[in-house]
Amino acid sequence: MCGIFGCVGSSDCVGEVFNGLSFLEYRGYDSSGIAALSSDSIHLVKKKGRVAALRSALFSSSLSGSPSIGHTRWATHGAPDDSNAHPFLSDDSSFALVHNGVIENYLELKKFLSSYGFSFSSETDSEVIVNLIQYFYNGDTLLALSETVKRLKGSFALAVISSYDKDKIFFAKKDNPLVLGLNNGVGYVCSDYPGLSSRVDKCVALDDGTLGFISPYDIALFDFSLSPLQPVFTHVIKDDNLSIGHYEHFMRKEIDEIPEAVSRALNSYYMSFPASVFDGINRIVFIGCGTALHAGLVAKRLLRELSPSLDCYAESSGEFVFSDFPVNGTLFVPVSQSGETADTLSAVKKIKSSGGKILAVCNVPSSSIVRESDNVILTSAGTEIAVASTKAYNCQLAVLTAFCLDAAKYFSSDENIPFIDSALCELLAIPSKLKVVISCENLVSLLAEKYSSAQSVFYLGRGLDFCVACEGSLKLKEISYVHSEAYPAGELKHGTLALIENGVLVIAVITQRLLLDKMITCLAEVKSRGAKIIAVSPFSDDKLSALSDHIVAIPAVCDILTPIVSVVPTQLFAYFSALYRGCDIDKPRNLAKSVTVE
Ligand code: M6R
Repeated sequence: MCGIFGCVGSSDCVGEVFNGLSFLEYRGYDSSGIAALSSDSIHLVKKKGRVAALRSALFSSSLSGSPSIGHTRWATHGAPDDSNAHPFLSDDSSFALVHNGVIENYLELKKFLSSYGFSFSSETDSEVIVNLIQYFYNGDTLLALSETVKRLKGSFALAVISSYDKDKIFFAKKDNPLVLGLNNGVGYVCSDYPGLSSRVDKCVALDDGTLGFISPYDIALFDFSLSPLQPVFTHVIKDDNLSIGHYEHFMRKEIDEIPEAVSRALNSYYMSFPASVFDGINRIVFIGCGTALHAGLVAKRLLRELSPSLDCYAESSGEFVFSDFPVNGTLFVPVSQSGETADTLSAVKKIKSSGGKILAVCNVPSSSIVRESDNVILTSAGTEIAVASTKAYNCQLAVLTAFCLDAAKYFSSDENIPFIDSALCELLAIPSKLKVVISCENLVSLLAEKYSSAQSVFYLGRGLDFCVACEGSLKLKEISYVHSEAYPAGELKHGTLALIENGVLVIAVITQRLLLDKMITCLAEVKSRGAKIIAVSPFSDDKLSALSDHIVAIPAVCDILTPIVSVVPTQLFAYFSALYRGCDIDKPRNLAKSVTVE
């Protein structure tokens, strides 16, 4: 949530900061702005709307200089408009600041500063920070920053420039990510690791409770009391595939990348999976938000089928922090694409502080969740830019399926081993099935066009198919703004059936042979009330064909592997629905790629 990009070098850095912000736009896109130091004074340009709006404003300004800091915003306090856009200048214009996070005591601080004559131009919580720095400044910016952060309650990643310090960007971090890097006389500050990966070979991911400054050749790091710390550099894994290529949207590109990403994910799993995580375990709790939670739901269900002796749960991270799972004998598995989701990170910190065992499933190396966890499976999906997660989800499913099969091998009796081994073999061949399923895109596009004026869509499934229905429904809501709900098919008749009337669209995921007859009964119930039915299924069955208005045929795979494949038509359906409805597919309204506030 919110992207910070800063740059300090020997020449003008504004262009570089603008490019950095353009890349980080997936973190927030309500407004954006850049400040730069030039001839001893700080100037800034900021604009409501997308980074493209900032580009035009920059053209008509003469903003230039170094150091320079920029921000792309996801509003928390105050409407998304020019006045609430970052950066903020201090009252005397000596400091400029960008902030990601939430300051809980900002009203008290604002009152305090107002009593000393400070004035404010925005409704944000962030503006108090820059004025507090001015208040504490007595010839030493670092000291002023340290006094400031000690008084802040809440979460923050900050970048600050000062007219007193010609070649430094100051920073501080608590509960929001910030990464630093150096390259050939240029220093960078950035909200996330992917944002720096094309610029530096090594980076420093800051820990909570650190502050300091970066200059063109150096990083100085301290704790909040100004005791020096040693920066720890880690190698950056380069991703050469960050451009949109011939695609109109990153989401569509990322769907095409699923087969290769899944094969990388499985490689990465087999290279690094620590089998010892199962020692002493009798309970597994998957934790995540949104799409990552849906991956956890699939894993929970798989484990319940494959290893009935294990106690398994899938919890929303936001709810998990209020629950009390015993730590002894439990393996906690946080699942996250970004590794920065605040609710999941809080859950991880809670588990860590109670001594629990953690195995994170994450896509971004060096992310906060990765650094907080004892063991990690990297999903290696490559950078995911579209806000709607697709390839990262398929990769989560692939590695979690491998994990569940390994768990089953560890905990089950010998007679299950041949079944597990054959499923493991089939899992390795899943990328080729994924290539096949993506070719349903023409049919799915036609269906999405046909139903593009639907007001409401119901996704039905049973067992594993219900988990896929949840993900399909989330994807549709997220990018096409169509109201949609997912139901275990048997549950519909207990209330929601009242909403089914002539023309309502039902998308049924039907991949489990044993559940086929029961699904057909549900379809008959909605059909007789006038629903239009799209079935996503590998089965050719007369009753299914008679009830369905359309069937999206998917390749047959063994039952437990179906979620990895059957979700693809639902991802494509969401994509094309959003396209035909004229929505901003890669940057849906009100959302951001990485949700770093609780
Ligand atoms: O980065 P994470 O996987 O932790 O993010 C969790 C959710 O915010 C995320 O999956 C969200 O639901 C997606 N935008 C869905 O497409």
